[in-house]
Amino acid sequence: MITLENELMEYVRSGIARERWFVSKSRTIKDISIERDLSFSIGDSTYHILIVKTGFDDFSDFYALFLKKRKDVSGFENALGDKKFVNKLADVFLSERTGSPGIPGIFAELVIPPSIASGHDMDVVVNREEQSNSTVFLGKKLAMKFYRRLTPANSPDYELPKKLSSGTAFTDTPQCFGSLLYEFNGKLYLLCSIFQYIENEGSCWTWLTENLAKLLMSSELKDNSMNEEIKAIAVVTAELHNALSKVTDSSEYVDERDIENWGSEFRANLRALYSNRISNNLPPLPIMREISTANLEKVKRSPFRKIRIHGDYHLGQIIKAGKKYFVIDFEGEPMRSLEYRRKPSSVLKDVSGMLRSLHYAISYACMVSGIDPDSSCPEKWYIMAQNLFLGTYLTHMKGDFHIIPDDKEVFQALLDFFILDKAVYEALYEVNNRPEWTGIPLHAIKEILKNSSQKG
Ligand SMILES: Nc1ncnc2c1ncn2[C@@H]1O[C@H](COP(=O)(O)OP(=O)(O)OP(=O)(O)O)[C@@H](O)[C@H]1O
Ligand SMILES: [Mg+2]
Repeated sequence: MITLENELMEYVRSGIARERWFVSKSRTIKDISIERDLSFSIGDSTYHILIVKTGFDDFSDFYALFLKKRKDVSGFENALGDKKFVNKLADVFLSERTGSPGIPGIFAELVIPPSIASGHDMDVVVNREEQSNSTVFLGKKLAMKFYRRLTPANSPDYELPKKLSSGTAFTDTPQCFGSLLYEFNGKLYLLCSIFQYIENEGSCWTWLTENLAKLLMSSELKDNSMNEEIKAIAVVTAELHNALSKVTDSSEYVDERDIENWGSEFRANLRALYSNRISNNLPPLPIMREISTANLEKVKRSPFRKIRIHGDYHLGQIIKAGKKYFVIDFEGEPMRSLEYRRKPSSVLKDVSGMLRSLHYAISYACMVSGIDPDSSCPEKWYIMAQNLFLGTYLTHMKGDFHIIPDDKEVFQALLDFFILDKAVYEALYEVNNRPEWTGIPLHAIKEILKNSSQKG
């Protein structure tokens, strides 16, 4: 007999591994089960919010699925593009203050209540870009980020925007209105977080790479091309860090243990990279170790504070709306533990992330326009972009004592360490995921070593 449960299981079993947000595509699912089914009806339509457990040899993962039962035919479809479904969830959130009936098992948390009344039948647009969660835009008013992998309520992706919106004057991030939550195994998890919708031209990555490629192809790239935009991104970054320093609960300094951890993580990535097939194209391993150890030794000389940081900061995490820029996606590096992602760290991690991203942008633009990245024009542009970003950032960080190392040599050593660390991480990522991009971080690693030997 075909029961609803069997039918749901069949749908989940056959479809889940193909979904963009399913992160373990290369592994075989050993067992799969529906752990929770929050189902409800609107008119004659039935919806299911499922928590599905996927078991592998040595671990299990949990994912949320949002489904609508097909009418007249068997099977289900994704409910996130369904106007009634998304408006119902928005209403549960918006009517929190008026106390109208919600959906059993789902709670709303209001941070900054938006000035939108419930009961509107807003247009629904599902974000079509590649992403690991699913963002849905409502009536050009709300951006609802539906989490796919089980995400605790204290995830930095919600915790930080919540604190920035309610506890600081920082306006360069979409306002965080609140969230919908559910309880599972005695803990609270995010169904979705809800933000102000920002009409935008795409991310700074898309904007910058398109413009750089156009200028390269028409031989019009100047040293100062797009310097206004780079300055603006640097100001936003400094303001973000100033605001994050205010919402950091502790006031701790970087200590020897932090420095040791940075060193051992770097060496682990280095080992993985050098055991790879591209090791012949890399500089000698002892030199890489020596340079990073020498930089970390210098870092011990002068104390500076740790604060909450963005944690996965690059041009793709800033959306451009004319002359305004909005920082999004505070999840941190997705493969890191929640505990790691919630820990304060050095702001120079974010700064090095953005510098590497600017270098990626010009290198990628060279790749698509068939231009040698070693030619003087792209090189000069990157040097301008790097100096302009850093100079502007530091000017706007003034007044914030001890977040940036006071000693110039310590500052440079820490930045150099994080940049090399990031480039090694990128090389490892590219060789395993996008081999045709591996040249970008490898080129950067060689440049960093050349510059270090000139300095040293
Ligand atoms: N408030 C907003 N207003 C308008 N568009 C937004 C808003 N927030 C996010 N977006 C769009 O949704 C996309 C995905 O958002 P986000 O980066 O938060 O999702 P994600 O699932 O964490 O993505 P990733 O897999 O890249 O980490 C963004 O690139 C942006 O285009
Ligand atoms: Mg993300």
